[in-house]
Amino acid sequence: MYRSHTCGELRLSDKEKKVTLAGWVQRIRRMGGMTFVDLRDRYGITQLVFNQDVNAGLCTQAGHLGREWVVQIEGTVAERASKNAALPTGDIEIIVDKLTVLNSAEVPPFTIEDETDGGDDLRMKYRYLDLRRNAVRSNLELRHKMAFEVRRYLDEQHFLEVETPILIKSTPEGARDFVVPSRMNPGQFYALPQSPQLFKQLLMVSGFDRYFQIAKCFRDEDLRADRQPEFTQIDCEMSFVQQEDVLQVFEGMTKHLFKYIKGIDLPDFPRMTYADAMKYYGSDKPDTRFGMRFVELKDLTEGRNFVVFDSAEYVAAICAEGCATYTRKQLDALTDFVKRPQIGAKGLVYVRCEADGTYKSSVDKFYSQEDLAAWAARCGAKPGDLLLLLCGEKNKTQKQLGELRLEMGSQLGLRDKNTYSCLWVVDFPLLEKDEELGRYFAMHHPFTSPKPEDIPLLDSDPGAVRANAYDMVINGVEVGGGSIRIHDSALQNKMFEVLGFTEEKAQEQFGFLMNAFKYGAPPHGGLAFGLDRFVSLFAGLDSIRDCIAFPKNNSGRDVMNDAPAAIDPEQLEELNLEIHLKNNGK
Ligand code: AMO
Repeated sequence: MYRSHTCGELRLSDKEKKVTLAGWVQRIRRMGGMTFVDLRDRYGITQLVFNQDVNAGLCTQAGHLGREWVVQIEGTVAERASKNAALPTGDIEIIVDKLTVLNSAEVPPFTIEDETDGGDDLRMKYRYLDLRRNAVRSNLELRHKMAFEVRRYLDEQHFLEVETPILIKSTPEGARDFVVPSRMNPGQFYALPQSPQLFKQLLMVSGFDRYFQIAKCFRDEDLRADRQPEFTQIDCEMSFVQQEDVLQVFEGMTKHLFKYIKGIDLPDFPRMTYADAMKYYGSDKPDTRFGMRFVELKDLTEGRNFVVFDSAEYVAAICAEGCATYTRKQLDALTDFVKRPQIGAKGLVYVRCEADGTYKSSVDKFYSQEDLAAWAARCGAKPGDLLLLLCGEKNKTQKQLGELRLEMGSQLGLRDKNTYSCLWVVDFPLLEKDEELGRYFAMHHPFTSPKPEDIPLLDSDPGAVRANAYDMVINGVEVGGGSIRIHDSALQNKMFEVLGFTEEKAQEQFGFLMNAFKYGAPPHGGLAFGLDRFVSLFAGLDSIRDCIAFPKNNSGRDVMNDAPAAIDPEQLEELNLEIHLKNNGK
């Protein structure tokens, strides 16, 4: 038996017990004739004591240990003279009477403690060592707990977990596919799934009724803090459901997770239309932990010879409570913020609602006190508040004002990680126009059903068609999204036509789905959560990387095993890639 207990479980009630522990040496301290060793495993840290006067040989042996050596000890649990309230095992220590070195270790490249001296890159390169640290390990423990609880919850709701293939034919989900050449079929490629979308719909045709899968998905897209090239979805689909049924089931699942994992009782999730989300927050994933909603002011700003506002399609403000005291420097910093290329505003107009009831603004030249008072009244601003205005082309300005709102929310401490504000954003547009290419793309994916009442608009005004599509948004993060699907071949064909697919192209790409739909497709719909995003939200992380055991860096590299990498010429030859190039006339 390697161990009788873990390093996290012994307490004062275990005093005098003979125990065997095994783990890693985190720290060695010598104090006079005593040597103290912190022994660590996944469960915690236990202090070991070696006393020169009691057993000199053992004490010398302990003195030769190094950091991260793997050892086993036998000893007796004793009460500590100076207790450590910060450690669950801090009341006890082990008086060691046998020490066995199970493995020595090189000096680790960074300290494996909560506060480490290792930078990001180094910790990524030695990820297996970083995973020994509490912070990273506890994120993975949380991830396990959440995934486990999702499985249990969905099982109770009669969902079946079905695995779908990883080597598939390309599924259009908006990002680029990762592709895998087929050795046995020269010149042909598999794609890795961007999601199991088509398979879960086929499972509905097969009568599976309630499907889920904790599924690996792959997308070759630009990476950000909330995006990894391979990530995990809690992917779900249901038959004989309408949008409301899907929202109820998954709102239930989310509430259950919050209750079970975090002990938080959430109220019912409000619903917000996509149109309102854009109008009031400039984002389809509004952070509703705080208000500061947009107020449109175009009509109040007109006719005062301020060309910038007069020529703008849209003028709107946010009201930052209590910020009239912002200094010139702070206002300049906000102006620089909105002018950054990533945001792209031309400038920022402010109005300070002074404590004495007067107004000071950057456009005083054009607007009277009455004008400014009218703006403030519409914004519900009180003396002491600050109005921040942006103007320009409507869609762009809304997005810019959305960024400014988030920045002000952060500056004012309104985005507390331990406060959770959940909602559903509903009624997304079905289609999005690419102005450059002059054609429509599916906003969600081509299998999303239009709202029945909007179907006639597919011919006359495709951009105005709303979809039965929804996203779950928590604290400004899109944690999940889905839709009710088209289950009627004729409507699906119509959709492909609007998306500019020829009949042959649609057949080639989705023939199998279209065929399946000929054999009795039930009405169905579903959604997928991003498990990584869900976990990082629960753990209060800034990046989903921190809840993935072996993540990629921002260039999509695994710096630990150095992937992607070149492959052997023989391996390359077997793939017959030149046939593919030849077929394409290269
Ligand atoms: P969608 O593309 O919205 O929908 O993805 C669903 C959820 O997956 C998460 N997600 C990601 N997480 C980490 N890294 C990424 N690169 C990444 N991309 C997406 C998000 C998102 O909400 N098949 C549909 C679902 C459906 O219609 O049922 C789909 O994949 O949290």
